[in-house]
Amino acid sequence: SWTSDNIIDMRIAQLKKQIGDKQVLLGLSGGVDSSVVAALLHKAIGDQLTCVFVDTGLLRLHEGDQVMQVFAENMGVKVIRVDAEELFLTALAGESDPEAKRKIIGKTFIDVFAESARQVSEQGDGKVVEFLAQGTIYPDVIESAKSQQGKAHVIKSHHNVGGLPDDLAFKLVEPLRDLFKDEVRKLGITLGLPAKMINRHPFPGPGLGVRILGEVTKEFADILRSADAIFMEELEKSGWYEKTAQAFAVFQPIKSVGVVGDGRRYAWVIALRAVETVDFMTARFAHLPYDLIEIVSNRIMNEIAEVSRVTYDVSSKPPATIEWE
Ligand code: XMP
Repeated sequence: SWTSDNIIDMRIAQLKKQIGDKQVLLGLSGGVDSSVVAALLHKAIGDQLTCVFVDTGLLRLHEGDQVMQVFAENMGVKVIRVDAEELFLTALAGESDPEAKRKIIGKTFIDVFAESARQVSEQGDGKVVEFLAQGTIYPDVIESAKSQQGKAHVIKSHHNVGGLPDDLAFKLVEPLRDLFKDEVRKLGITLGLPAKMINRHPFPGPGLGVRILGEVTKEFADILRSADAIFMEELEKSGWYEKTAQAFAVFQPIKSVGVVGDGRRYAWVIALRAVETVDFMTARFAHLPYDLIEIVSNRIMNEIAEVSRVTYDVSSKPPATIEWE
């Protein structure tokens, strides 16, 4: 029968058998799936696991620190944190086309990941890294089968590190490949991961890169991070985080006039987006209480001097998409 304890014991036995004394590399994003893979592999093979966490500079506020705290500090998992903010921002400079931005972010991610994979392979005390672990879950398997027939868009375009150069030909370890999201979540809880991490909304691979409309700059990313953090904090406090499937702030590169004290302020616009959905293929804009929207909007305009206006996105999918780019 399906209990998390059974499943965990069985998977651990399988993983030990599959991996033996070899080294395994895992790209840790901080999302639910790769986090559960990290916890499971750590339990199965301990120090033979090395995780690479790429800080793209396009993550949410304190995201990198939280990942390091949970995995490196609390659980003792070997995690290499790569600070690649400058690399990503430089690569993105001057580009405002959404698809081009996605491609740049995906390619830079592969480059950075490949570089640390090489370093890990070379340092491993002569022990060769033979396996690459991935947080592929059953819906990803179906989704990519469909997209190969041209039917569906690829949701996890670069979370899963396909497209590595030929000199890094790893064997794959995908211990969640036959599991649904709710099963993965149960495993994560049983493995002792924090509930907050397990119940997180999905976060797209390109991160804030597709939530800053047009050109991505550090200034815009910092403003967006602050606004987004306020929105998340108030959603959690009010109990609305768990009532929505995904919620975030979006940076609008347009200026609007406001008034502060005696003066006028000409500053940026932030949009708030929250949706209810089960499958992410269709979605309804979340009917957040006006009182909550009011608190969030006042806090953003009062606490972030660079923002003079906040809007709430009332578009459902279709015809709108969940993300703005
Ligand atoms: P859309 O905007 O297409 O989003 O309605 C549906 C779901 O997919 C996520 N999303 C992405 N995830 N790479 C990702 O890993 C991407 O390029 C990407 N684009 C959208 C989005 O956050 C939502 O959960």
